[in-house]
Amino acid sequence: MNVIITKDYDEMSKKAAEVLLDVVKNNETPVLGLATGSSPIGAYQEMVKDHQENGTDYSKVVSYNLDEYVGLPISHKESYYAFMHQHLFNHVNIKEENVHVPNGLAEDLDQGCKEYEDMLKKVTIDLQLLGIGGNGHIGFNEPGTPVDSETHVVDLTEKTIADNSRFFIPLGEETPTQAVSMGLASIMRSKKILLIASGANKADAVYRMVNDPISVDCPATILRNHPDVTVIVDAEAGAKLA
Ligand code: F6R
Repeated sequence: MNVIITKDYDEMSKKAAEVLLDVVKNNETPVLGLATGSSPIGAYQEMVKDHQENGTDYSKVVSYNLDEYVGLPISHKESYYAFMHQHLFNHVNIKEENVHVPNGLAEDLDQGCKEYEDMLKKVTIDLQLLGIGGNGHIGFNEPGTPVDSETHVVDLTEKTIADNSRFFIPLGEETPTQAVSMGLASIMRSKKILLIASGANKADAVYRMVNDPISVDCPATILRNHPDVTVIVDAEAGAKLA
């Protein structure tokens, strides 16, 4: 695990975008695993800026998102499908048919998960981008999720629901309590993994990811079993590492 500590969110985002762009530019059919949340927004902005200034081509890029809330239509502004279009897909020349986000509205959610995992097994993700939850979750793989988990339905923990409520309370809506998420095994199959984190509220999780025994008690520790993981954090998130 290669850990890079940057000055602030902007520097973290620029460095993360460099890693993502390297994959986009240097693979014939780049396959990206993408994340939502506040952590990657700056990196996506950098990618959009690069596309506008340098014309970097996304016509061959294929993307698979980590997760999606259960029960939100894709038209809902807080759906992860809408998030990805708002922050990245609408601003680069990726083809809609190459974009994949788990289906949180499938009539049979377990079957939907199986279909997503079957699709993932037919490709190799060149680079999987991850954030980290305050409890060490990656994707929505909360503490205790089995190491061999594949795409599955998740009951979100109270902490994660509370963390996400900031987006729903202003809309006067209930915060979703379930999500569909790639599993830990799905994530670990990626060729390369990039995890980013910023802010003091991530300092404990980042410390635990690097130092705790490898265990599903802190799902991000599992990444230490992967041969090619880069972690880019800002000074606040990395404060407990030194
Ligand atoms: C999002 C995801 C989550 C987030 C994590 C951090 O697709 O999989 O694991 O990466 O909850 O969220 P932020 O970046 O909002 O702090």
